Amino acid sequence: MHPSEAISIEDLRRAARSRLPRAVFEFFDGGAEDEITLRANRQAFERLRVLPRVLVDVSAVDTRTQILGRESSLPIAVAPTGAVGFGWPGGDVGIARAAAACGIPYTLSTTATASIERVAREAPGRLWFQAYIFKGRDFTFRLIERARACGYEALMVTVDLPVGGKRERDNRNHFAIPFRFTARNLRDFASKPGWALGMLRTGMPVMENLVGFTPEAVSASGIASSVGRNYDPSFDWDGLKAMRDAWPEKLILKGIVHPADAERAVTLGCDAVVVSNHGGRQLDGGIATLDALPAVVRGINGRIPVWVDGGVRRGVDVIKALALGAQAVLVGRATLYGACAAGEAGARRALDILRSELVRAMQLCGAPSVAAIRPDLLFRK
Ligand SMILES: Cc1cc2nc3c(=O)[nH]c(=O)nc-3n(C[C@H](O)[C@H](O)[C@H](O)COP(=O)(O)O)c2cc1C
Repeated sequence: MHPSEAISIEDLRRAARSRLPRAVFEFFDGGAEDEITLRANRQAFERLRVLPRVLVDVSAVDTRTQILGRESSLPIAVAPTGAVGFGWPGGDVGIARAAAACGIPYTLSTTATASIERVAREAPGRLWFQAYIFKGRDFTFRLIERARACGYEALMVTVDLPVGGKRERDNRNHFAIPFRFTARNLRDFASKPGWALGMLRTGMPVMENLVGFTPEAVSASGIASSVGRNYDPSFDWDGLKAMRDAWPEKLILKGIVHPADAERAVTLGCDAVVVSNHGGRQLDGGIATLDALPAVVRGINGRIPVWVDGGVRRGVDVIKALALGAQAVLVGRATLYGACAAGEAGARRALDILRSELVRAMQLCGAPSVAAIRPDLLFRK
């Protein structure tokens, strides 16, 4: 499919599904266990209804807003997603370039398949670096220093993954990074020759940030398996304080849903929080992020920005999140589907779709600017 044929994020999702082997698509698309939280994120958006205003001059709509003190063309930033290269060779750089072209921030994951340095070189734009915390901590601090040396504007610390979630689709599909070649997934991979040829041409993607993570982690397989074993479940608020002290630029805390955790984030000196449950990929049975948002917004009470992610698939979803008090949303799968369907062009298409849907929805709501998206735009029983 040519990306311009996609008219919704769901079209890009379908295009990604038809291009990728099932195991790879489900790794990106799926969630943990029964996927209750994954579905709940979407359902929370679908349940919430807008109460539009009319007879407002909406001939010119301004979607610009401030994110971390700088202008962004949309109240949207790209969330960190690891392993994108398994969906499209060079996919991380493609998404980063699409974000730069659109004028919004991009977050590079620790487990990206492109390095901190490569993305800074090939996709100059507003770059944030997302850190996972590994046992031993030294390696994490070295990553942070690399991000600082490359001029990354903010550090995002993800805290909803002390251990990995139980993703049963991956188990059933024999999906692991690095790939395990079983009869079943070899058939699956061979059924998508376009994808398979791309992989053969460029070679198995590598988690480039993590080369040298442990002495044995030199091959793609060594890196991926040592990462999985080395998340640090003992990381706590004291650990976060040490990161705050080590990083003088903006610090974003991602993966909170409880107002008490938001309060501690403010006390500790975080510059923003992301209400997130990792797109339903870790704890299943956890609250939908949109349901968690109002209490966090109330508790923070304007002291630092609150952002939200999980389930944003339409422009009007951005309006709903902002009307509930978020200053911006992050998108994970939306740009990921685009990149898996058609690389950089697909990621650009995803952002174009969200932008044009947002503009239209703002016009239909009588909200010509981001500041005009206020709580009274929501229908409450
Ligand atoms: C395939 C995939 C990989 C992800 N990798 C990371 C990651 O490396 N670091 C992180 O903080 N979050 C990661 N996330 C979570 C996203 O940053 C984000 O919270 C989530 O995707 C938002 O939900 P959405 O996909 O419905 O937009 C990942 C999500 C997906 C779907």
